[in-house]
Amino acid sequence: MIVPHDRPVRRPAVPFFIEPLQIVARNQRKSVPTGETTVHAAAPPYWPEDAPARQLAAAGRRERTAAPAQDPWRLFVEAARAGRPTPSACRTLEAIYGPLLRAAGPFVVAQLGQSLDGRIATVDGCSHYINGAAALDHLHRLRACVDAVVVGIGTVVADDPRLTVRRCRGASPARVVIDPRGRLPATARCLGDDAAVFVVRGLDAPAAPAGETVRVPHDADGRLDPPAIVAALAARGLRRLLIEGGATTISHFLATGAVDRLHVAVAPLIIGSGVPGLALPPVPALEAALRPPTAVHLLADGNVLFDCDIAAVRRKEGGTADAAPDNLPAARQDAPLGDRDLRDRRDPARHRHGPGAVGADPGHAV
Ligand SMILES: NC(=O)c1ccc[n+]([C@@H]2O[C@H](COP(=O)([O-])OP(=O)(O)OC[C@H]3O[C@@H](n4cnc5c(N)ncnc54)[C@H](OP(=O)(O)O)[C@@H]3O)[C@@H](O)[C@H]2O)c1
Repeated sequence: MIVPHDRPVRRPAVPFFIEPLQIVARNQRKSVPTGETTVHAAAPPYWPEDAPARQLAAAGRRERTAAPAQDPWRLFVEAARAGRPTPSACRTLEAIYGPLLRAAGPFVVAQLGQSLDGRIATVDGCSHYINGAAALDHLHRLRACVDAVVVGIGTVVADDPRLTVRRCRGASPARVVIDPRGRLPATARCLGDDAAVFVVRGLDAPAAPAGETVRVPHDADGRLDPPAIVAALAARGLRRLLIEGGATTISHFLATGAVDRLHVAVAPLIIGSGVPGLALPPVPALEAALRPPTAVHLLADGNVLFDCDIAAVRRKEGGTADAAPDNLPAARQDAPLGDRDLRDRRDPARHRHGPGAVGADPGHAV
């Protein structure tokens, strides 16, 4: 309510927070499951590991990160990749990125940046930038942790993203575009030569003009089957995947049980209308809603990161289709793994697109 300055403010006789509290109490009487939530609401800097780099930036120095020897991000990544314990100065990094880096088998994290009203873009498809600097840092760290970043063709057409790692140390992952109808523009920036490119298409679709074509079957709903996409990429040595958007793509992966971890970065802005975030099949009642164990991190830019352990829901429910919640089906069947190492997967020379490309496999089916 906006109150004109020349009129006295009438205070309600009853504190206005009474009513919401009553609503919460009514819900609790119905035994609605509460989920498991851990709040890390530390005062800024929210990640103590970032303090040296932010001090440098505040002092007007150009370096965004601390000297290599002391860079907590680098120390953390090296320890995690080597299977060593995390240095004590990197505990928050371990909490957020450790499960991804330390996973033994295929691991899929999906990330979405959205407004308070659950929008991921304006009505015109503009999403740059809903999130603040710290949330963007987080996104680039996720990219640096994975073997491949996966986007739907809608995001490529709308944003023309590079999908590279630019805001932290780390190699850029391979790029995967899900493009069932061959809409990928030849000039798309994600086709850059700094990493391998894969284009996911149907079994009968012609080969993509760029990158390695990965053919997967359609599921019963007529979409390219997300678990089959995960399996096909794992067979090519791409085990750690970041599903970066848009909402249609992430929703497909989530609805088919192909996501292990969901990161939602909520920014304190209200767009009002526009492209909505996740859309899953309806649940009959709130009791059937997905309530993953979730860690909540307050970021320095005022964004809030919800780190949802979707795989834990599958484990809790026994990992069977019958036991899973209504809007999360059976556990993903992990595919046999390919034997290329991480350097191979990211090496563009082994996957360079175009005629005569090394490793290109235009007729390769799952
Ligand atoms: N805020 C954020 O975090 C964020 C991140 C990324 C993107 N965005 C925004 O999101 C918008 C784009 O999102 P979007 O949901 O419209 O599109 P999208 O998810 O990027 O792409 C959807 C399209 O990709 C293809 N596709 C993806 N998965 C498929 C599957 N399993 N089977 C078959 N086809 C599949 C289909 O292509 P066809 O239509 O050709 O069949 C589908 O329509 C843009 O405005 C972008 O700016 C926001």
